[in-house]
Amino acid sequence: MFKGLEEICEVYKIESYAYDETPTPVRPKPADFVVVKPKNTLEVSKILKFANERKIPVFIRGSGTGLSGGCVPTRKGIVISTERMREIEIDIANRVAICQAGVTLDELSRSAEKHGLSFPPRPGAENATVGGMIATNAGGVRALKFGVMRNYVLGIEAVLPNGTILNLGGKTLKNSSGYSLLHLITGSEGTLAVITKATIRLLPPMKEMAMLAIPFRSTEDALNFAIDTSMHVTPMAMEFLEKRAVEIGEKVSGKRWVSREGSAHILAIFEQEKEAELASEIAFNHQAIDVFLASPREQRDLLELRGKIYVGLKDKIIEILDVCIPPAKISEYLRISEKIAEKYGIELITYGHLGDGNLHQHPLLYDGWEKTYQKFKKELLKLAVEFGGVISGEHGIGVIKRNEFREFYPEQFRLMLEIKKLFDPNFILNPDRIF
Ligand code: LAC
Ligand code: ZN
Repeated sequence: MFKGLEEICEVYKIESYAYDETPTPVRPKPADFVVVKPKNTLEVSKILKFANERKIPVFIRGSGTGLSGGCVPTRKGIVISTERMREIEIDIANRVAICQAGVTLDELSRSAEKHGLSFPPRPGAENATVGGMIATNAGGVRALKFGVMRNYVLGIEAVLPNGTILNLGGKTLKNSSGYSLLHLITGSEGTLAVITKATIRLLPPMKEMAMLAIPFRSTEDALNFAIDTSMHVTPMAMEFLEKRAVEIGEKVSGKRWVSREGSAHILAIFEQEKEAELASEIAFNHQAIDVFLASPREQRDLLELRGKIYVGLKDKIIEILDVCIPPAKISEYLRISEKIAEKYGIELITYGHLGDGNLHQHPLLYDGWEKTYQKFKKELLKLAVEFGGVISGEHGIGVIKRNEFREFYPEQFRLMLEIKKLFDPNFILNPDRIF
């Protein structure tokens, strides 16, 4: 398809690379594309130079676990897959991992553990790649205590469209040396440069974890429990699951939730048992129906149940939304969300990272959704912004939240566009994302 590309590296046709994990109704339509699998930075540089000189669109793909259409080749172009860039080195004395972009979350955390260290965040699927997680500034269930990808990226090696290799940051925790291009590239969704390598901060090994599963009669009680708990201890995770989400998780995972009662459920994880004990007391003060302390085996089962909810929902929903709301406003936000959904006759299933305000709202598919859904979505995301929240807490703008992004943040949009032109004047890098 692109004469001369095969002289740089092997060229593949892989139909499944036309997609990621974005639900079909909103997932962008793929165009014609070829795939390359560079092994190192130099090859990425050559590919980009080749594409830039010919103004060929380039799409960057990790494991394809994204939920905003971020790696779907929306124009005739080249998909750069980082799957062969899997080298990882642990620098114990400096407590960092130096990873090529295709290293997976699972590989990163296992390597860290093997060397007596840990990578505590859980931003997404175990097979998500370091490059992809940095590109979206992924968050996940442990962000409440351990932060998001941005808090762990100390250094980035990235390639500009003209082939120039940039080295940003390094192994130091502090850096006040001018604008942080490192943090600009983090979360830039592949639109500014191709991340080829990263230096990731590691922490001492994790302690034992204690997990509570708590059914509540109302969302209000569950929310008040979460807020009250956070005044005393910072949980590793404070997940909210509405009853239907629990039922779907049970069905897909084959694991049972702790209670048949209650409409709002909490899965809370603590680093220490005494923190969990304190949280149990707080839960009973907020009318918890019961409090279950999970055994190690139950912990695995409950995490599996939580992790599989999206798998069970994927074919029934239009989209997975990921607004992030200031914690004290969540209750009101959810109440008004329901009203808006009712007005459009839309059913919403909600679960998510309650502790940090990052909620996953899933509008179920309905007849004629094409006519009214976008209007509904805009109203809902606007509400999030009015409440001091953001329209994407962890999945990114990608291809599917661009309209709202542009409309709600016109000044930021304008500045970002200027930055985009500076990095990628020919607009070859992940076109149709963010802008
Ligand atoms: C989750 C992913 C979908 O929280 O963000 O399950
Ligand atoms: Zn999430």
